[in-house]
Formats: sequence, C-alpha cells, structure tokens
Amino acid sequence: MRIDVVTIFPEFFGVLDISLLGRARQSGIIEFEAHDLRAFTHDRHRTVDDTPYGGGAGMVMKPGPWGEALDTILGEPDSAEPGPVVIFPSPAGEPFTQRMARELATRDHLVFGCGRYEGIDQRVFEHTATRAEVRLVSLGDYVLNGGEVAVMAMIEAIGRLIPGVVGNPESLVEESHEDGLLEYPSYTKPANWRGLEVPPILLSGNHRAIDEWRHEQQLERTRRVRPDLLPPA
Ligand code: ADE
Repeated sequence: MRIDVVTIFPEFFGVLDISLLGRARQSGIIEFEAHDLRAFTHDRHRTVDDTPYGGGAGMVMKPGPWGEALDTILGEPDSAEPGPVVIFPSPAGEPFTQRMARELATRDHLVFGCGRYEGIDQRVFEHTATRAEVRLVSLGDYVLNGGEVAVMAMIEAIGRLIPGVVGNPESLVEESHEDGLLEYPSYTKPANWRGLEVPPILLSGNHRAIDEWRHEQQLERTRRVRPDLLPPA
C-alpha cells in the first residue's frame, strides 16, 4: 500500500519510522511519504491560510497550495484502477470505525490531507472529488488542533490490518470491535499478584468453558460501558 500525507508538519510523521509500521516500511509492505504543504506555496512567507469570506474567527487554509499538492500526488487518473482514496480528517466527518479501517486496508493508495486552523476551503474537497474518492473522517466527538494526530491514529489502525504487518494475524481476530463487542480481560503470570488472583477458570484447561467465560465477559463489559454497540434488545 502507498500512503501519502499532506501536512504543514511533515516532521510529525517521523514516528512512523519505529515500531510495527516502521518494520512494514522497511520490508516494503507500506510505502509512506509526508509532503510539506508549504512546498506548494509561491510567496516569500509560504502562506497557507487566509481570512474567511463572510467573516468569523480564525483562518481558513487556501485552496491553491492544496490543489498543487494533490495534483502532484494524484497525477493522471488511471481508469483501470479503483484509484486513490483521499481522506481529510475533520470533526465534521463520518466516524472512523474498525469497519472503515478494514475497508481502507484493502486499498492500494491512501492520501491524507491534514487541515489546520478553521479548516480547508470547501472547494478543495469538491475539486478533489472530481478525480478521486474523497472522505471526511472524524476520530470522535471532540476537537483537535489539526488533522495530524487523527491521521497518525488512522494510519496505525489501517496499517496493522494489512497482511504481513502484524506478525500473528490471529491476534487481530480477538480484539475489541472485531466481533462488534469489547474484548475480554487478559491475564498473564504470576497467578497471584499483590494478592489478586487470576480467575480460576483460566487455569482449568477447559477450553470450551474458557471461551464461554470470555464471551460472557465481553457481553458484560460492552453492556456496562458501550451499550450503544449492542443490537436493540
Ligand atoms: N481534526 C480536528 N478534530 C478532529 C477530529 N475529532 N477528528 C478528525 N480530525 C480532526
């Protein structure tokens, strides 16, 4: 998979050199590039924002540098391919979910556009939609200063679903959200730690009973903290 990010803070993405995703890049499973939006400006101050039409607080990102950056990354459309998906993180977007991560993990080319300030000129989304699939995506119902942290989270969630990135693919199956429920609690040695015992069933060797106990734990946890995930009774 190829991932391009457009941002005014390309150095922010240096952390992608480490950990699982760093290894995936070294082995060539993921090809990653962060592009500096200011490289597509033409004034001395490398200006990327301006005051909003209609007034209001804050600044809006100018369409010009975005257009040039996306021209460079998207190039000529190739009608035979499904084509790139261009994702703009935004608190006004559709919610990012495990289902969306799974879907995006099957694509060959993802482009992320990190907005700052009060957002990006609306015409950037409209124009980009004439040559690529565009999605506005929100990480949750809160406001970040810019899209970079949201993009890091999305790249991690998507990247680990690409075959070969996570060493043991079975570990992906039993996680929170993969079966619509939160995951069950986990324990490791020692069996008694600071007076707290591991639930005896996990030491029983009875795998059917363990599976049932874990499923019960998943249901209980989901009912307690995320009842919205359960189908209506
Ligand atoms: N940018 C600012 N806030 C955001 C959010 N909640 N999700 C995604 N991108 C954002």
